[in-house]
Amino acid sequence: MRFCTRLSKSFLALTVLTGFLSGASALKAQTAAPAAPQATQATPDAPRPWMNPKLSPEERTELVLQQMTLDEKLALLHGNGMAHEKNWNTPRTQLANGGAGYVEGVPRLGIPPIIMSDAAYGVRDSAANGRYSTAMPSNLGATSSWDTDSACAYGEIIGEELRAQGFTMTLGGGVDLVREPRNGRTFEYTGEDPLLAGTMDGSMMKCEQAQHIVGDIKHYVMNDQETGRNFVNAVISKKAMQESDLLAFHIAISIANPAAIMCSYNRVNGDYACENPYTLHDVLKGSWGFKGFVLSDWGGTHSTVAASAAGLDQEQPMDKFFGPKLKEAVEAGQVPMSQIDDHARRVLFGEFLSGIVDDPPQKSVVDVQRGFDVAQRVEEESIVLLKNEHAILPIDSSRVHSIAIIGGHADVGMVSGGGSAQVDPPGGNAIARRQGRVQWHEHVWFPTSPLKALQAELPNTKIAFDPGTDLDSAASLAKSSDLAIVFADQWESEGVDLKSLALSDDQNALIEKVAAANPHTVVVLESGTAVTMPWIGKVAGVVEAWFAGSSGHTALANVLTGAVNPSGKLPITFPKDENDLPHPVIPPAPDWDPAHTKGKVVSLPTNYVVDYTEGAKVGYKWFEAEHKQPLFPFGFGLSYTSFRYSGLSIDSAAKTVSFTVTNTGKRAGAETAEVYARLPQGGEESAYKRLAGWKRISLAAGASQTVTVPVDVRVLQSFDEAQNNWTLAPGEYAVFVGGSSQSTPLTGSLAIR
Ligand code: BGC
Repeated sequence: MRFCTRLSKSFLALTVLTGFLSGASALKAQTAAPAAPQATQATPDAPRPWMNPKLSPEERTELVLQQMTLDEKLALLHGNGMAHEKNWNTPRTQLANGGAGYVEGVPRLGIPPIIMSDAAYGVRDSAANGRYSTAMPSNLGATSSWDTDSACAYGEIIGEELRAQGFTMTLGGGVDLVREPRNGRTFEYTGEDPLLAGTMDGSMMKCEQAQHIVGDIKHYVMNDQETGRNFVNAVISKKAMQESDLLAFHIAISIANPAAIMCSYNRVNGDYACENPYTLHDVLKGSWGFKGFVLSDWGGTHSTVAASAAGLDQEQPMDKFFGPKLKEAVEAGQVPMSQIDDHARRVLFGEFLSGIVDDPPQKSVVDVQRGFDVAQRVEEESIVLLKNEHAILPIDSSRVHSIAIIGGHADVGMVSGGGSAQVDPPGGNAIARRQGRVQWHEHVWFPTSPLKALQAELPNTKIAFDPGTDLDSAASLAKSSDLAIVFADQWESEGVDLKSLALSDDQNALIEKVAAANPHTVVVLESGTAVTMPWIGKVAGVVEAWFAGSSGHTALANVLTGAVNPSGKLPITFPKDENDLPHPVIPPAPDWDPAHTKGKVVSLPTNYVVDYTEGAKVGYKWFEAEHKQPLFPFGFGLSYTSFRYSGLSIDSAAKTVSFTVTNTGKRAGAETAEVYARLPQGGEESAYKRLAGWKRISLAAGASQTVTVPVDVRVLQSFDEAQNNWTLAPGEYAVFVGGSSQSTPLTGSLAIR
């Protein structure tokens, strides 16, 4: 179980990555570790046909599986502790390379261990391990680019840095739908729409795994809030789940082909996600044919026989249920040997598939500059311009001679997302300059100062800073400046949901006060999710920069000054008011003492239920079906130029939509053209449209491009629970094309026969 407070432990990590291909010699280095299972068949000199890379991962897996003893198979099915977590330490944890998990390999057969690190937006725990990692923009931020190439570059950087640091597996890949925008992990996920979320997450993980890293997609499934996450029972019909959260996972998995899926902490319709026969056995491994392995979230395993039968392959991070108890269950005939073979086969397959057997990592120095460059490029595409009255942006230095920068610690840096996703900033937390491991739920600022970045870009402009703690002082600086930019932050983390989408502390009051002092006020948001804006009518501009990563300040300064034309589009709806959400409040969870230490069995509350009555109507679908007007709709984002849509033609046979986009302004820019479709008139399902495709187009001023976008029928199908299959209803599907879910100048119809 992951607790609200994590205790850190300092210890000397043995970070020697042993030569696994050299067989038994690897174990000699593991002096503090218990002895490995006894080799009974192959010796280091015996032929190893499974090491032939020309064979398929499946063939190699079968060949090596035949050689393995029961103990060797069982060793693949559980973790051996988590570095820096004193409640989860075993003698073998020192082999985890300072990472979150370690699974024994089979040295005598050349099968390497799996060395895992968290890596949602970059590799975790640099401080404690004395390393450096790039922070990419948050996953949600990067999704705002709607650019799969950018998502790929994101995954590549993380994969490269994992390898450089000696890891062989990522614990990234969050694709839980943003059903509850106050979810503290929204920044780790890829938005509220299954097609966008699945495509962006899948593209990140495909390219990450391509670096020869065991890829992972998480948290499977319905882990849509952090409140009571260890026991909440997410209740939802199979049909709605298939058409929403499961669809996002399926799309991501079909793109990334990840070696692993992490099942989540929560219950789904009564059963824990890590022992859920429907989601694991029937859907993931059955209908979808997933061949890799399922590992539990940390402490998310709750049984031996039931979990194994349902399809959990590997317990993390310990061996409470899948260690000696699993062996006993096998010996007692409660778990068939074929099931153990299946679990082991999946882990081995994942190792061969990802390339870690043939190409083990070599520790090296990460390419710091490349990380900065990619993080900057991704952020430049991810920043969303939400409001730009009277073209207040980009900053026109011929007219703006003085700028007040206010709040958000913008003099020293930008905030980042916390929890197991946390990437450590170089030099420590910029607002505290404290050395060492980041504390659980510490609010961490990167040393990426927007003030300094703007000063560098606008050397002839007077730029002054006010911390925003004294409202009068901030207002007076704003009044005496040509332009005021207020930096507002909304920190988020795993383990805790936001109490509300309102900015914390006095930030709303600060913005009101500054805007009253100077109508030329722009708000820059550094948030992990949507923000409510009671002051929206009073400010001239709003820029959403998300958690902006290692080069966030440079990217932001480029957008504010116009060196880069903003092109991000919202991957989630920004509501006006939380009362408009399907669940106006997150129900409070029962108190639960997280006294889940080694060996101690606790019983978790069973009566905390979140009933997702909105079904598949997540995000914009809910707002449209309920006729509620959001503050900013899904897919929305402004540019410094303007675009015109024309010439829609629809090919029903090919299921494609063609149209022309013209840049009608004076600057080059990029537009994401969005294609939506609505089910034929009839039931509740036609009460909202669904994103069915998109295309990001870069256009010089005045230029036009005609594009053809395939309509993805996976989002138009209905899941039939009784038949356990999908149907695509015949009829006329209304098609909408434009620059956001609410601005669709082109409409037409697609006939499905
Ligand atoms: C999180 C996972 C993470 C794991 C290991 C859990 O608390 O939910 O996302 O990978 O810890 O740190």
